[in-house]
Amino acid sequence: MNNNKPIGVFDSGIGGLTVVKRFAANLPNENIIYFGDTARVPYGSKSNSTVIEYSIQNVNFLLNRNVKVVVVACNTASSVAISALKEKFNVPVIGMIEPGAEMAVRNTKNKKIGVIGTRSTIGNKAYSKEIKKIDAAVEVFEVACPLFVPLAEEGWIDHQATIEIAEDYLSELRNLHIDTLVLGCTHYPILSRVIQKIIGENVTLIDSGIASTEAVKKELKQINLVNYSSDKGMSEFYVSDIPTTFKSVAELFLGRQISDVHKVDPETFWHS
Ligand code: DGL
Repeated sequence: MNNNKPIGVFDSGIGGLTVVKRFAANLPNENIIYFGDTARVPYGSKSNSTVIEYSIQNVNFLLNRNVKVVVVACNTASSVAISALKEKFNVPVIGMIEPGAEMAVRNTKNKKIGVIGTRSTIGNKAYSKEIKKIDAAVEVFEVACPLFVPLAEEGWIDHQATIEIAEDYLSELRNLHIDTLVLGCTHYPILSRVIQKIIGENVTLIDSGIASTEAVKKELKQINLVNYSSDKGMSEFYVSDIPTTFKSVAELFLGRQISDVHKVDPETFWHS
């Protein structure tokens, strides 16, 4: 049955697990195939054409595993590759930017939204363009926080270095009276405790994982591919390199043990 097919999810590394975590809670019967491109992380400092090329390979791999939809659990890939992916592939492709922007606009009362993300996402103005499309009156303040990705990959969730780097990155945003902050990179929810503390408890953090869960649910209903099985969904994890920390950081973050992590080479899926 097509409904039992898995949802394919990819990111440049461990960050997309923050999306998987939300899916497991909100779409508990869905099976998931996760691909983390750990050999080529980070995407956020690479050119648009490289990220598009990698994203196409990643989707080819997921389709090879027979997925029913693809979730681009990476804001960087979502901001530069989504239209190329939608054009090239026949399966529905869901990104992070639209759901995150919609959730932020729904949340803001004072129409001042901060966005933090990779250099690529911020440089491409992915969120400010999308937010302004929904409500042109919203002021958007964007800051790139590239060092958050390696800190998250290392599992330094509340290390002193993380606190100092976050203070530096967020100091400007703290004075701008934002009431909403978009975590515009799927790695950042791993560091959300520190980010929340520094930006202030009165600022709502928008997690792409939560925002995209709704979009995925809606899409599955629309195309009639909800998994109605009463069994708990299974997750399989694939990476392009097995860093020593992947399993431990993944388990720490997901709050559960994960099955074996398999290594694959996404470049072999370039022409498939
Ligand atoms: N987690 C990714 C994102 O959401 C990318 C981080 C990176 O590879 O630079 O943007």
